[in-house]
Amino acid sequence: MTPVAIAHRLSAVPEYLFTSLAEKRRVLESAGKKIIDLSIGDPDLPTPQIIINRLKEAVDNPEHHRYPQGKGSEEFRSATARFYRRRFGVELDPETEVMAVVGTKEGLAHLPLALINPGEYALVPDPAYPVYRTAVCLAGGVVVALPLLAENDFLPDLKALSDTILKRTKLLFLNYPNNPTGAIATQAFYQEVCELARRYNFIICQDNAYADIYCGDEPPMSILAIEGAKEVAVEFYSLSKTFNMTGWRVGAIVGNPEVLSALAKLKSNIDSGLFSAIQSAAATALDSYELLHPQILNAYKERREIFLPALKEIGWHVNSASATFYCWAKYPDSRSSFDVCNELLDKCGIIASPGAGFGDFGEGYVRFSLTAPTHTIKQSAEILISTFTKQKTLYHSSP
Ligand SMILES: Cc1ncc(COP(=O)(O)O)c(C=O)c1O
Repeated sequence: MTPVAIAHRLSAVPEYLFTSLAEKRRVLESAGKKIIDLSIGDPDLPTPQIIINRLKEAVDNPEHHRYPQGKGSEEFRSATARFYRRRFGVELDPETEVMAVVGTKEGLAHLPLALINPGEYALVPDPAYPVYRTAVCLAGGVVVALPLLAENDFLPDLKALSDTILKRTKLLFLNYPNNPTGAIATQAFYQEVCELARRYNFIICQDNAYADIYCGDEPPMSILAIEGAKEVAVEFYSLSKTFNMTGWRVGAIVGNPEVLSALAKLKSNIDSGLFSAIQSAAATALDSYELLHPQILNAYKERREIFLPALKEIGWHVNSASATFYCWAKYPDSRSSFDVCNELLDKCGIIASPGAGFGDFGEGYVRFSLTAPTHTIKQSAEILISTFTKQKTLYHSSP
């Protein structure tokens, strides 16, 4: 049979980098080895019951059986606006400044198609959630990498961007709290980036998927809390991580009304919105944030307190003040992150994500996701300590 000719635009998309580890895992599991998966950021904890109960009621409402409103139900958009006022001190017009997305991944992936012409530049952090880069490639845009370095607290160095690049830039992606580094952005940084966007006339897309997973006392902020930010910025808020709802596929884009309306136009030609009953349950989640959030947050804090000391004990470095449920860990040698992850899988039965999978500047790091049950995190910590301290002793005693 003649092979199918895949579109050129898809060949511009990088291959999935974790394929070889996934294959290795399959082989080990089929040989009966038990693998602990700390690679994917998919919460193990269930969605809170109050949200599930609301869905059950909403499913029975025949109004919800028809096509949903493309931009999201009034119920969901109003709940999002109320939530943004309580949580971030940000005022949003639910009619023009809030829109539902089928999970923020969908919105993030479609946004460049609505904003970028072929050849225009998009500034994309490196390392980063891979969707920003692929979405820009699919839209025919040019990706300009913004290195996130430890010495800059994993914030991009905006001063390093040349006038020539900035003049061609249409879109800048940010993601704080950051996947994979766990960094949090400061108000001063957001202020600086908003000023730059105004000066060079580009749009900022801040991905706030991890806004509510943090370990310090100060909750991370919204970029829209910066005065005038709505002129130049949109923000994505995901219910996936805050409320353990990854499978539900629901999130919101908020901010600049013109950007939202362009995305709405695009999406009206692609999808027909998301099941209204899910939006109803999502509204309940947002309205119940103060009730539900502390328990979810505490689970991750407890896991960090177990896992971080183990990494430190084996000589790895992690920024303990960071947010998200990831540990972005620097290992103490110069091997590739793929080699280190292979070793973790072979010797410890732990699958983690190689830093290089998030971009060139992720090399030298491994990302562990604390989205496994607390007893599994404890077990992983014990395995790491027993495997690597033994190894150290072995090295030290060899001639
Ligand atoms: C940084 C970041 N943004 C967005 C998403 C997508 O989340 P959602 O479930 O809302 O599509 C993820 C998922 O892991 C993520 O890590």
